[in-house]
Amino acid sequence: MPHTTVLEPLKADQWFVDNPDVREFVAIAKEIISSTEHNRTETLNILEPHFAALLKKENWLPKPFTQPNPDSGLGQGIGQWLLYRSQERVLTIFSLVIPPDAITPVHDHLSWGLVGLYQGKQEETVYCRVDNGELEGRAQLETVGTYQVKTGDIYHLLPPDNDIHSVKAITLFAPSISIHVMGNDTGSIWRHHYHPEQKSVQSFRSRYSNVLMKQERENHAKFH
Ligand SMILES: [Fe+2]
Repeated sequence: MPHTTVLEPLKADQWFVDNPDVREFVAIAKEIISSTEHNRTETLNILEPHFAALLKKENWLPKPFTQPNPDSGLGQGIGQWLLYRSQERVLTIFSLVIPPDAITPVHDHLSWGLVGLYQGKQEETVYCRVDNGELEGRAQLETVGTYQVKTGDIYHLLPPDNDIHSVKAITLFAPSISIHVMGNDTGSIWRHHYHPEQKSVQSFRSRYSNVLMKQERENHAKFH
């Protein structure tokens, strides 16, 4: 069971949503995260108001990036749409669209991140791992807390703290949509799907709803 991922750099930055608002935010984010003056906690605090400003803007997120995806890598129709990915895969932005009442698996991210609610309401349950990870396939989690997140709210991911959670949409009719600003290529790497009640863990790759993985691209080229 693979637990780490080495991904090759891309040929160039990839813009799946390309407009002045996203370009401006990416330029600021790149400058902030490349600064060596601050530790990661400070970096996220400095980045947060710029992210909040982007979330408040209107008409920057095209409709296809606000839709559920029946063929989801996260299950339950959850859409994970890649908006932007840097060449070195050290900055990605994606939307996570959770249909009403759907819930993500309990998962980790293995990277710093900022998550902001663009639409709707969510209930986030945060866990911490309390075993030493020595037993393959086994993991013991404890619940840290359950939090309500509403439109405009932003929370921080900063492993090892706050990195394991599940997220449930608690809107009745429209999906909840969160925007993730991450320091890795979250959808492409192998990370962990936990089953707290069974005390087990498995590797998984969530993928992005709008991007084929390298192997899928090669298969596609072979058969078409
Ligand atoms: Fe998450």
